[in-house]
Amino acid sequence: MENFHELLLTRHSIRKYTDEPVSGEDVKLILEAGLMAPSSKRKTPWHFVVVEDKAMLAQLSQCRDAGAGPIANSALTIIVTVDMTRSEAWVEDGSIAAVLMQLQAHALGLGSCWIQLRNRSLGEEATEDIVREMLEIPETMGILCAITIGHKDEERKPFDEEKMMWEKVHIAKW
Ligand SMILES: Cc1cc2nc3c(=O)[nH]c(=O)nc-3n(C[C@H](O)[C@H](O)[C@H](O)COP(=O)(O)O)c2cc1C
Repeated sequence: MENFHELLLTRHSIRKYTDEPVSGEDVKLILEAGLMAPSSKRKTPWHFVVVEDKAMLAQLSQCRDAGAGPIANSALTIIVTVDMTRSEAWVEDGSIAAVLMQLQAHALGLGSCWIQLRNRSLGEEATEDIVREMLEIPETMGILCAITIGHKDEERKPFDEEKMMWEKVHIAKW
């Protein structure tokens, strides 16, 4: 990867993965990216649950009515949980850690996708409750998202700089 802008231009959600395992060194680098994430008041309230077991990944992919499919064929999935009793900004803290892990995965040539777990459901049941029970996550931990990771089995076109949404930028006033 040439530089950080190039990294951003070529990042896209990847939902299809090959069967190739992700190396331990790469998993370590990805987790380190999360562990170095900035957090409100430097509370570092996140905990990451790394799931590699195929049967558990298949089970986790059924935790929502739709949209969690990529978990099933990922090489690993990291569940981002954040201690809600330690930070009123737990959603922000967890989101930043999740995105940094995605960018590190991309920089390593791996694909990843954010799968929303917070405020999602399977029928009448909250996805958070389902995942909490499956992975024995304490009640104090908010369950934000799953970051699926694996070797890419799909190609995505880079962003087109010509189509950058500059209309969303307001200078000085709205
Ligand atoms: C907060 C958030 C929730 C998301 N939830 C899901 C999800 O549950 N399932 C999924 O397949 N993708 C999910 N995504 C990925 C988005 O669909 C994706 O980022 C968006 O379509 C833009 O595409 P890109 O990432 O390829 O640029 C989520 C992304 C974010 C930031």
